[in-house]
Amino acid sequence: MKTVESFLRYKEDSKKITMVTCYDFWSAQIIDNSNVDAVLIGDSASMVMHGYDTTINADIDMMVFHTAAVSKGIKQKFIVSDIPFLSHLKGRNQLVENVDKIFKAGANAVKIEGTGNTLNDIEYLVKSGIPVMGHLGMTPQSVHQFGGFKLQGNGEGRASQILDEAKKLQDAGCFSIVLEMIPSELSKTITEAISIPTIGIGAGKHTTGQILVLQDLLGMNKDFNPKFLRKYLNGYQLIQDALNEYDKDVKEEIFPSDKESY
Ligand code: KIV
Repeated sequence: MKTVESFLRYKEDSKKITMVTCYDFWSAQIIDNSNVDAVLIGDSASMVMHGYDTTINADIDMMVFHTAAVSKGIKQKFIVSDIPFLSHLKGRNQLVENVDKIFKAGANAVKIEGTGNTLNDIEYLVKSGIPVMGHLGMTPQSVHQFGGFKLQGNGEGRASQILDEAKKLQDAGCFSIVLEMIPSELSKTITEAISIPTIGIGAGKHTTGQILVLQDLLGMNKDFNPKFLRKYLNGYQLIQDALNEYDKDVKEEIFPSDKESY
């Protein structure tokens, strides 16, 4: 998948879209040769790669740094990069400068969380030729307003607010919307109510596509086990086993062997 049109075609053809996050060159190369459709350089890099508790510590330099690394390894997939915390609320010139930096680092589109104060800017970017992905529900940059990483839209008022926001994002020109941690029935209603694809994380099976954080689906964090996550590998254990085997081989003088020496 290389274009915005392909996202829209997947929805028209009732085909599922797969996305994963990616923050670095080596995993980008692996993803590029997989069947996964597209990648997101998420501001979750702040948590996954830099050890912060939230995405609030991601800034434009961090996003540009990771986007540049990923884009060197991704040749065949669509690349979306996050606009980090508050950096779209510092005036339009600042936003345009940030988008310029992210695109020059290799992104094909940007993702912007929420709708509050941003709809005009999203419309402006789309009219300027910048594909924008929306993000609704449990938008992590608002974690302190929500009082934690919590399910959103499980009450009627908030559910109809999220549906309304999805329609507004479509009208503003978004080519797709991430729906994070909302009830499955609400994501079904939204997906049926709009013509652009929805990409779910913790939003059930009715979205057009799914996204997971790469390290989560690879099981790299043994203590992160939310209900929505399926781990496709026990990466934490596999890597630890490999490290311990290496350590043992060196200490028992099994590695390097004559064959591995010059
Ligand atoms: O930053 C991120 O990784 C995201 C996805 C989880 C959707 O926004």
